[in-house]
This record gives sequence, C-alpha cells and structure tokens, in this order.
Amino acid sequence: MKILITGSSGMLGTDLCKALAKDHDIAGVDINVPPVKVHAFHSASVIDADEIGRIMEGEKPDLVIHAAAWTDVDGCERDPEKAEAVNVKGTRNIVNAAAGRNIPVMFISTDFVFDGNKREPYMEDDDPCPVSVYGRTKYEAEEVVKSGSSAYAIVRTSWLFGRNGRNFVDTILSKAASGERLRVVNDQTGSPTYTKDLSAALAGFLCSGRVPGRDIFHVSNSGRCSWYEFAEYITGYKGFKEAVIEKVASDELARPAKRPCFSVLDNGKFSRATGYIMRPWKEALEEYLGGVGSWESRVDRGG
Ligand SMILES: NC(=O)c1ccc[n+]([C@@H]2O[C@H](COP(=O)([O-])OP(=O)(O)OC[C@H]3O[C@@H](n4cnc5c(N)ncnc54)[C@H](OP(=O)(O)O)[C@@H]3O)[C@@H](O)[C@H]2O)c1
Repeated sequence: MKILITGSSGMLGTDLCKALAKDHDIAGVDINVPPVKVHAFHSASVIDADEIGRIMEGEKPDLVIHAAAWTDVDGCERDPEKAEAVNVKGTRNIVNAAAGRNIPVMFISTDFVFDGNKREPYMEDDDPCPVSVYGRTKYEAEEVVKSGSSAYAIVRTSWLFGRNGRNFVDTILSKAASGERLRVVNDQTGSPTYTKDLSAALAGFLCSGRVPGRDIFHVSNSGRCSWYEFAEYITGYKGFKEAVIEKVASDELARPAKRPCFSVLDNGKFSRATGYIMRPWKEALEEYLGGVGSWESRVDRGG
C-alpha cells in the first residue's frame, strides 16, 4: 500500500516512516527535512491547501496518516491563531484533499482532548472537553476528520517520547547531568508512550489487513504515573542517585496552558480489535534509555 505521512520528520512521524517502510511505499510531508530516507518527501505546509491537493494528486496514496501538528502546548496557548491554522485548517486541507479522492485518513490525536476530571482511564466514547488551546484545536481537528472523511481512524495517544524529537525524558536527563535542580509536577497522571511502540502497533493494525472504517482508538503504553514519578524512574534507571527532584503542583509552575490532571487512556478497544497488547511504559522506557542510539550517544551528537 502507498501511505502518505504528514509530520513525517517529527518524533512520531520518523518512527512511523521506519516501521511502515518495511511493508509499504512511504511518502512524507513536513516543513522540516526528514532525518530518515523515505520513498518520496515533499517539503510543504499542511496549511497550503493547493500544495496539499497537488501532493495528494501526484502521490495517489491508499492511506494518509496525518501526524503533522503544532505540538507546543504552551506555544499554542500564546498563539491560538497559529494553533488553529496548523491543527484545524491543516487537518481540513488534508481531509478535503483525501476525501475528494476516496482516501482513508488515520488522524493522530491526543489525551489532551479530555479535561482530566475522570479517575478511571478514558474510553473512546467519553466526551472530550479540552482545557487548553492545543487540546481544543486537536479536538476540532477530530471533528473535521469525522465530518469530512467517509473512512477514518482517529488514534489518540499520550505523553510521547522517541528518538527524533525533543521530549521529557531527554530534558530530564540533560538537566540531571548538568546538576540542575528539577521541579516536576506530581498532580498530572498519564501514560508515557514510546513512539517506536506506537508506530509498531499502527503498522500491525495496517498489516492485519484492517483499513480505517469510522473508528476512534486509544493507543498508549500501559501503566500510568505522574510526571514526577516518570522523572524519578528516568533518573533512577540512569543512576543519577544525586539528582534532586522537587515535587511541585501544576499551579506553582504557572505555565500558560492548563493540562488535564488525569489523562490515562483505556487501550481495550484497540487490543480487542487487533489482538495487539501495548507493553508497560517502564519496559519501553528502559529500551529507549538502554538501546542503540541511547540518550548518551544522542547527547554526544548534540541531538
Ligand atoms: N508529543 C506528545 O506527547 C503527543 C501526545 C499525544 C498526541 N500527539 C500527537 O502526535 C502527533 C505527532 O506528535 P510529535 O510529538 O511527533 O510532534 P512533532 O515532533 O512536533 O512532529 C510534528 C511534525 O509536524 C511538523 N509540522 C508542524 N507544522 C506543520 C505544517 N504546517 N505543515 C507540515 N508539517 C508541520 C512539525 O514541525 P516543527 O517541529 O517545526 O513544528 C514536526 O516535524 C501530533 O499530531 C500530536 O498532536 C503528541
């Protein structure tokens, strides 16, 4: 199958390209050049409807995976117009270009569509109620996908870390290595998710012959923690025994965007549909920290 991946140079997009290239022809779209070789790459913004239409016409993919987004949660809060343009209008352009050619869309969405008031894992049919501009624009984009595509899969995931993007794990380790005192919130709970695992799960979904119908799935590594517990596990695993991590409440950090205090996603529907079980986040993190291209070598390369 030929798959067009938007956001192909991002943290998730890069791993998606790698995981799917084994069985599919991949074409990427991003505003940044890709760190890995893809069959075809288009340097373009999803905001440019004409350009997206031309790319769709030229590539004629069998499926679009729309992962491009403006993911800077505080940035979105400061500049809602840009957030709206990239996350909502960009999605509308992708959906319109795909729908006109009967191409199904897999849209990558987020746990941040929820307000965090639940205390049990969120199900796919729980009502979204975003508390930030980022969450609102991603939810609006979901609605664009639902109303504009005859075949779609909305995949909500959470707290991503991976080799090809700035992420919490690397930030914590570089601060710990430089002896910086860490202040980490202990009142937000979620499920850290390795982009390599999410990509493998989605590759499995597509290889099992499933194509998007009209579905929403939650897909995250299993287990849960607070950001503080996540930071403790990261530094403990890497042997930063002297790292001082101070537990703080979200309002002490006074960040521009509010975050849901609980955004664990229930993976049950995805597991039942595909037979795919997401492994615990701690196992995924240990592979990320210990494997080839480990944190030290990425820092040594300056990446
Ligand atoms: N990160 C998380 O914790 C998380 C959690 C849940 C869901 N998600 C969703 O998962 C997807 C992938 O996230 P990620 O963490 O891999 O993000 P990422 O690393 O920021 O990847 C997104 C890619 O899209 C690019 N992009 C931004 N604006 C664009 C535009 N107008 N046209 C084309 N490309 C554009 C980004 O470029 P720039 O880097 O220059 O902006 C980046 O290369 C997103 O849809 C996000 O909403 C992320």
